[in-house]
Amino acid sequence: MTVEDPPQVGAGPDPDVRLDAPPILSVKDLEVAYGPTQVIFGVSLDVPEGGLCCLMGRNGVGKSTLLQTIVGLQQPKAGSISLGSEDITKRAPYNRTKAGIAYVPQGREAFPYLTVFENLRVVAEASAKSGPDVIEEVLERFPRLRKILGRPAGFLSGGEAQQLAIARALVTCPRLLLLDEPTEGIQPSIILEIEDAIADLKRDGLSILLVEQYVDFAMRLADTYAVMDVGRIVAGGPTDTFDRGRMQQLMSV
Ligand SMILES: Nc1ncnc2c1ncn2[C@@H]1O[C@H](COP(=O)(O)OP(=O)(O)O)[C@@H](O)[C@H]1O
Ligand SMILES: [Mg+2]
Repeated sequence: MTVEDPPQVGAGPDPDVRLDAPPILSVKDLEVAYGPTQVIFGVSLDVPEGGLCCLMGRNGVGKSTLLQTIVGLQQPKAGSISLGSEDITKRAPYNRTKAGIAYVPQGREAFPYLTVFENLRVVAEASAKSGPDVIEEVLERFPRLRKILGRPAGFLSGGEAQQLAIARALVTCPRLLLLDEPTEGIQPSIILEIEDAIADLKRDGLSILLVEQYVDFAMRLADTYAVMDVGRIVAGGPTDTFDRGRMQQLMSV
């Protein structure tokens, strides 16, 4: 995106996304605890095939824990997680990546002493699905990264680091991308670039579960939404049923 081009952001609800078709991700009756402290209570959530589901909610309600459980970094006490028709609840994280789930954690971890390019190459080489052109394809989506390929990842701005984190996830050629608060602490002009990249991914058919507190950004991209409060889903549905007043109530501290 250049300054001359008006930002063509937010694909919005996509008429081609079939909410009545089988979802790509289906979480059912999930219960998750850290030791004796339960933080997720009977959560069920679907991500439509080729669509974007936005998960919202205040700090500390369990959004990141839910994503970590979907990728296998936390084990649920009960409930199930399916990717397509496959039950992946008991699979190791590595196998979930192989099955097509990519995860961009909150905080955008990368190897700080490796350059931007090396960070992408390490992931590409570890991924059975990545061909020789995959880094090039991913860089097409992030022109800003192409200019800083030789810079160590520890010396990036917040926006650059977020773009690198998403790029690293894409190098594994996922079917489903989990994004945890990609706009957190990022300046507004770069937020638009990130929104643009997510809208493009969605247009290209990638299914996305986006955790986001920035409601305008989220609702421009989402086909469906869900709101969590203290470990439970308390509102949700197709984006056209979204009620901003109720949302503000649920998000206020
Ligand atoms: N590793 C952990 N060990 C113990 N408690 C945790 C851990 N991670 C998060 N929690 C607690 O679980 C709850 C949900 O946290 P989290 O999933 O990070 O919420 P959110 O992403 O919605 O801000 C919070 O009360 C948090 O303090
Ligand atoms: Mg979080």
